[in-house]
Amino acid sequence: MKDLFRLDDEVAVVIGGTGELGGLMAEALGAYGARVAILGRNPGRGEARVRQIEQAGGVAKFYAADALDADSLTAVRETIQADFGTPSVLVNAAGGNRPEATLPPGADFCNLPLDAWRDVFDLNLVGGSLLPSQIFGRAMVAAKHGSIINIASMSGMIPLSRVVAYSAAKAAVINLTLFLAREWATQGVRVNAISPGFFPADQNRKLLFNDDGSYTARGGQIIAHTPMSRFGEATELAGVVVWLASQKASSFVTGQNIAIDGGFSSTTI
Ligand SMILES: NC(=O)c1ccc[n+]([C@@H]2O[C@H](COP(=O)([O-])OP(=O)(O)OC[C@H]3O[C@@H](n4cnc5c(N)ncnc54)[C@H](O)[C@@H]3O)[C@@H](O)[C@H]2O)c1
Repeated sequence: MKDLFRLDDEVAVVIGGTGELGGLMAEALGAYGARVAILGRNPGRGEARVRQIEQAGGVAKFYAADALDADSLTAVRETIQADFGTPSVLVNAAGGNRPEATLPPGADFCNLPLDAWRDVFDLNLVGGSLLPSQIFGRAMVAAKHGSIINIASMSGMIPLSRVVAYSAAKAAVINLTLFLAREWATQGVRVNAISPGFFPADQNRKLLFNDDGSYTARGGQIIAHTPMSRFGEATELAGVVVWLASQKASSFVTGQNIAIDGGFSSTTI
């Protein structure tokens, strides 16, 4: 029981580990013993996270890859295999919204640009789950051992105002999670999603805070609707990702979408 959360035998791939939430998840997996491959497009941020993991006594390496490019993911998969062995944990944390796909206050939904909608679906659904699950999932199925963790969003459960394309894309990520969970349930691969609520990060800080640090109108509305009356901190995602990655701790858990949102999705008031 004491070893429930040890990940010493796991090779974890964290796509978007260059970002704020994915980077923290990579650190958590490294701290529990996984060899961590951080994938992303920004070597500076990726290498910085690798150093943090190493300073804490973990093993990690950065690999430049584009989640939307199958060839790039396949090439990197081969290198990781040679460096660390067969990946057994996949965290799909590449994703985010596009300003052009967000409706300004009072804007007409009918004018939402299709290009922006498609970009957001490509990033969150195709690069943020589909392609990496196909490319890394194949080896997991062959090894009959794996855990795929998709980072969806609370907005995929409750469509938020204005961010319509992002919410719809994350809803699709949750649906794909459930599909794949059933598809691979007897093949040793578990597939789950984490749906964070609001965690201030590069992609949403301007939406939540004014320059003087006070809440924007939208930030204030969110806090008013959150039973815990605060935003989340990236470290609050560490426990759930380690739990879902650990075959011992979550062996009978698949097809779940875990909301980490201070209670936001639990109330309509
Ligand atoms: N921050 C929040 O409040 C919040 C809430 C719910 C869900 N999420 C989701 O969590 C995930 C991580 O978000 P974050 O807040 O850490 O954002 P972030 O922007 O800090 O991290 C996303 C990372 O993905 C990388 N990325 C983007 N496109 C890529 C591509 N094609 N190939 C490889 N890497 C790519 C980015 O460069 C970035 O490093 C995203 O899927 C986001 O939608 C975030």
